[in-house]
Amino acid sequence: MTSLVKAGPLPRYYQLMEIVREQIRTGAWQPGAAIPSERELCEQHGISRMTARQAIIELVHDGLLYREQGRGTFVAKPRIAQHLLSLTGFTQDMQAREVRPGAQVLTAEMWPADDTTADRLRIKPGQPVYRLRRLRLADAEPLAVETSVVSFLGCERLLDDDLAKASLYHLLESKYDLSLGEAEQEVEAHSAHGDHAKLLGLPEGAPVLRTRRLTYDKRRQPIEYATSVYRGDKYTFYTHLRRYGHPS
Ligand code: GLP
Repeated sequence: MTSLVKAGPLPRYYQLMEIVREQIRTGAWQPGAAIPSERELCEQHGISRMTARQAIIELVHDGLLYREQGRGTFVAKPRIAQHLLSLTGFTQDMQAREVRPGAQVLTAEMWPADDTTADRLRIKPGQPVYRLRRLRLADAEPLAVETSVVSFLGCERLLDDDLAKASLYHLLESKYDLSLGEAEQEVEAHSAHGDHAKLLGLPEGAPVLRTRRLTYDKRRQPIEYATSVYRGDKYTFYTHLRRYGHPS
C-alpha cells in the first residue's frame, strides 16, 4: 500500500483518499468489504482521527464507500455507466457491463392517450397506447423506475408478453418487426419522493437522475416515450465529446 507523504503540497486527507481509491481500483478492497476503522487508519498512517474522518466522508460523498449505522464503512459497488452514444435499452446496457438485468412489472395496461402523449407520439388523443411501469433491477437490486408508453399498430398484443423477463426493445424488434432508429433524450437532476423513494430503497429527498426518451423507428415515427428515474448514487451518464468546426 502506498504510504502518506507527511510534508508535501497535498493535504493528508486527500492523500488518504488516493490510497483508498487505489485499493479499490486494484481490487485489493472488493465491493461489499469492510474498510479498516477510523482508528485503524489513524494507526496505519500516523494521522489524526479528523483527517481519517474527512477522507471517509469525502469518499462516501463520491459514492466509493458507504456507511452502515453501527456496522462500519464498506466499499460500494462501482456505478453503472450509460454511454450516451448509441441507442441501447436497459437490458443491453446491463449485459454490456456484466450486470444481471431484471424487472418487476408494476403495471401493464392499455390507456387512452392524453393530449400531451398523443402529441409526442403523433397519434390522435384517446387512441389506446400500451403503458408499462417497471422497476428495473441490476443484480437483483433496484436501479430505476421506468414508465414506457408505446404506440404502434397492434401494440395491445404486448399485454400478452412477460415484460418481467423480456426486453422491450428486443420484443419490438424481433417479435413486432419494428426497426428502432434513433431517440431524443433529456437528463435532469431530481429528488426521490413517495413511491419512487420506496421502490428504489432511498430515503425521501435522495438525489435521482430522471431521463425522458422519445424513441423513433427508422421512418422517424415515434414508438415509445419513456420516463426513467435512476438512483443518483448508482448511475453515471457518460458522453464522449469531440470539438468540431474549430480552427486548429
Ligand atoms: C432504456 C430506455 C427506455 C426503454 C428501455 C428498454 O431504459 N430509457 O426507454 O424502454 O431501455 O429496456 P429493455 O429493452 O431492457 O426492456
